[in-house]
Amino acid sequence: MKEIESNKQAWSLLAEDHYNHFKKRFLDNTLSLNQIIVKELGDITGKKVLHLQCNTGADSILLAKMGAIVTGVDLVPENAYYAEKLAEELQITNVNFIESDIMTLMEKHQEKYDIVFTSEGAVGWLPDLIKWGHTIRHFLKEDGFFYVNDSHPIYLIFDEEKIQNEELTVKYPYFKKDPDEDNYIGGYASDSKEGKNYFWGYTISEIINALANAGLFIEYFNEYDVSTPGMGGSVKDESGLYCIPYFKGKLPITFSLKASVR
Ligand SMILES: C[S@@+](CC[C@H](N)C(=O)[O-])C[C@H]1O[C@@H](n2cnc3c(N)ncnc32)[C@H](O)[C@@H]1O
Repeated sequence: MKEIESNKQAWSLLAEDHYNHFKKRFLDNTLSLNQIIVKELGDITGKKVLHLQCNTGADSILLAKMGAIVTGVDLVPENAYYAEKLAEELQITNVNFIESDIMTLMEKHQEKYDIVFTSEGAVGWLPDLIKWGHTIRHFLKEDGFFYVNDSHPIYLIFDEEKIQNEELTVKYPYFKKDPDEDNYIGGYASDSKEGKNYFWGYTISEIINALANAGLFIEYFNEYDVSTPGMGGSVKDESGLYCIPYFKGKLPITFSLKASVR
C-alpha cells in the first residue's frame, strides 16, 4: 500500500535521532511512562506484553523495567535495529523487537500474550481498524487484555497551530475517510523532517466498534485533558503531565481504553 510505504520511509528518517534522544534520556534518568498508563496498566510483573508501534523501543524498555516480558513491533527496520541496540546498551534482556507492519503481523508471528499494548501516536497510522481489532484479538490469550492510550479523536480534528493560539478550527473533519497527507514528520523526540506521510483520523465509535467487532469486551473508555509532552503548546501541570492551559478542563486531549477477551 503506497501510504504505508511512504510512512515507512518517513519514519525511518527519524530513527537514529530518536535513538539518540531516548538513550540520553535513559542515561539522564529523565524518561518514564506516562503515570496514567502506569496506573491503568497495574502490576505487569511477569506478563507477556506485545507492544504495537514501539518506535525505537523506549516505552517497550520502560514496560520491561516494570517486570514484563516485552515484544515490540514496528514497521521500520531502522526502528527495530535501534530498539535492539538501545535495549542491549541498557542491558535490558526481557525485551525483543520485530520489524513488521501491524496489518500483516498475524501472518508472520504466532505467540500469544497477556497484554497487547499501544500508545501515544499509534492508532492513526493504521489504514484498517477492523483488521487492527482482529489482530489484537489474535494475539491475546483467553484471559488477556488490550490497552491503548492515545490522542483523543476530538482533539485531532483541530488545526494544531491555531490550538496554540487558543483557537479551535476544524482542519481534519471528524468523519473524513481518506488519510491526511503531510510533508513533515516527527518533532516530539527530534526535529521534524521532510517526508511524505499519511495519517487516518478515526472517530471514537470506529475505535470502539473495531474492538467490539473482534469480540473484545470494553472494560472502560477514559478521557483526559493531559498528555505526555509533544502536543503543540502544552506545558507541564502540577501532576507532572502536560496540558494546554487554556483548554484544561474544556477539551479532551487523550483517551485510554481497556478491552478484554472474556
Ligand atoms: C508516534 S510513533 C509511536 C510512539 C510510541 N508512543 C512509542 O511507544 O514509542 C508511531 C510509530 O508507528 C510506527 N508505524 C506506523 N505505521 C505502522 C504500521 N503500519 N505498522 C507498524 N508500525 C507502524 C512508526 O514507525 C512509528 O514508530
